[in-house]
Amino acid sequence: MGVADEDESDKMRERLLRLERENRYLRRDSDDKKVLEEVFDRSTMLAVEELIARKDIRELRGVMSAGKEARVYLGEDRAGRAVAVKIYLTSASDFRKRMGYIAGDRRFGKLPAGSRETIYLWTRKEFKNLQLAQRAGIRVPAPFAFLKNILVMEYIGNPPEPAPTFSEAEVGEEEYTWTLRTIRALWNDAGLVHADLSEFNVFRAEGGPVLFDMGSAVLSSHPQAQEFLKRDVYNMVRFFRKRGIGGKEVDEWMKVILS
Ligand SMILES: Nc1ncnc2c1ncn2[C@@H]1O[C@H](COP(=O)(O)OP(=O)(O)OP(=O)(O)O)[C@@H](O)[C@H]1O
Ligand SMILES: [Mg+2]
Repeated sequence: MGVADEDESDKMRERLLRLERENRYLRRDSDDKKVLEEVFDRSTMLAVEELIARKDIRELRGVMSAGKEARVYLGEDRAGRAVAVKIYLTSASDFRKRMGYIAGDRRFGKLPAGSRETIYLWTRKEFKNLQLAQRAGIRVPAPFAFLKNILVMEYIGNPPEPAPTFSEAEVGEEEYTWTLRTIRALWNDAGLVHADLSEFNVFRAEGGPVLFDMGSAVLSSHPQAQEFLKRDVYNMVRFFRKRGIGGKEVDEWMKVILS
């Protein structure tokens, strides 16, 4: 790595730390120092710089979400349009948990050796999953680019406010029907299971719901695909039931989806 590179990555690190401090879009979390160091490691900073050099993004404007595993930034693309930039933490401690969602998916050959490589593969997997879903006509954030642990995608909502998730919004019969139809289309048309589906990973956006957070999704040929499918269905049935909506049991959903 050259001296110029180091300067660039230091500058980006400073910028992101400033955004972090300004805290404009930070909704939850934590000035947890360890987390900050992980997010702002040098290779991540260089990857952000490279995305800017490639013109995949023009800049990062602020933090929208700071979870244990990833941060999501509001960014701007070269045309000045809002984009969502998801940066996975490279040393997230739970990378082993991800292995089961990579092994068994025939798109990905040998399992990576380290946590960093696993996270890079996870990022690529989320990109590919979004592509597959989109091509099957399912509403997801359009994937624009990825590099290392960074994913750039369509921004869902009115910046700087992301669209509310089902957990934050009013939902009714329409969303219930949409959910059943979408899980079915994901399985039958895209050949995918979301595998981390819940009310926290569906936006209630203008023009209808949008499925997101697709890193864990696997092909329906994965040995545990049906198990994941059933868990997804269970989570959604339970959510709608809490809201007093529904009727169909998990097994009935499964029959409809698998038929
Ligand atoms: N495409 C997008 N457009 C707008 N906002 C987004 C987008 N993707 C993610 N976000 C914001 O970031 C939040 C977390 O995104 P996501 O679920 O993909 O990450 P995560 O790793 O599961 O994080 P968490 O652990 O906080 O759930 C979302 O609830 C939303 O507020
Ligand atoms: Mg999520």
